[in-house]
Amino acid sequence: MKKLAIALLGTTALSAGVATAGELNLICSADVVICERLVTEFEARHSDIDVNMVRLSSGEAYAKIRAESRNPQTDLWWGGTGDPHLQAAHDGLTMEYKSPMLDELQPWAVKQAEVSGWHTVGVYSGALGWGYNTEIFKEKGLTPPKCWADLLDPALKGEIEIADPNSSGTAYTTLATLVQIMGEDEAFEFLGKLNENVAQYTKSGSAPVKAAARGETGLGIVFQHDAVAQAVAGFPIAVGSPCEGTGYEIGSMSLVEGAQNVEEAKTFYDWVLRPEVQGVMPEAGSFQIPSNKNAKAPKEAPDLSTIKLIDYDFAVYGSSEKRKALLARWDAEIGGKPAE
Ligand code: F6P
Repeated sequence: MKKLAIALLGTTALSAGVATAGELNLICSADVVICERLVTEFEARHSDIDVNMVRLSSGEAYAKIRAESRNPQTDLWWGGTGDPHLQAAHDGLTMEYKSPMLDELQPWAVKQAEVSGWHTVGVYSGALGWGYNTEIFKEKGLTPPKCWADLLDPALKGEIEIADPNSSGTAYTTLATLVQIMGEDEAFEFLGKLNENVAQYTKSGSAPVKAAARGETGLGIVFQHDAVAQAVAGFPIAVGSPCEGTGYEIGSMSLVEGAQNVEEAKTFYDWVLRPEVQGVMPEAGSFQIPSNKNAKAPKEAPDLSTIKLIDYDFAVYGSSEKRKALLARWDAEIGGKPAE
């Protein structure tokens, strides 16, 4: 008994300073249901690797990885919008890695990797828009918006939710999209007016449409696939796609520089890019377009070819300078001024 205790102590002591074999510290920045499903599926196939997963919004994940950079506690960051992944690459917070799965990926997913110097890779994509509660709109006699401009209708006062772009990649994508469509000053003028209609800035990007689904608010500015998810779950949610055009995300994945469990992280990285793994997403209520060419896009997924997409400049809006500057301006001009 004593011998066994000493042996066990020895193992713990040995593993204290060095990487503990069979562990993976994962940040997941997509919906918590798919995050948990991926962990369960992975552990079922790799019983020798224990995954410690934490769900964080994209901006929060970036901030955590940055804060830990001298002593990384995270190995792998899966999901979340691409911009903060590109910023992390630019800041040297993530590692160069070329997965053997790259050949199987869509050109947009590979381009994302290339833009980052192979420090990140595309895992899914989806377009921005909104979801609104058709029952609330009918009861209150509201006109469903067709364009970004329609969101400024004074009748929508208190009916709109969107996330805070500091924490949420969805909201940062919205900010960057409006800047690309309108120009920066005009976009901030628009956001200032929109603020009059916004009931709440949430932490997570999909929370606004979940609130609309429950009837707590009329409309959430979110990725269209997150609105679809609520409609598929049976809520009275209709999806809106802005007439002026809209931005989109390339949800991404990055290996953390200085990760303690690099081999385990690479095992997960290569596995999660497999077509059959990406194919699990709709079962967990996630309707993004998968990045593996052999994975079928879910039939419920908004068809990107029918949406008026802008030519979103990932290199510019994922750069450290641009993201920092836009967030600082948003804090100064919008976030600090709650609607009356
Ligand atoms: O819920 C899924 C999702 O919309 C992803 O497609 C996206 O990458 C992520 O959430 C963004 O979340 P957040 O806005 O909270 O960073």
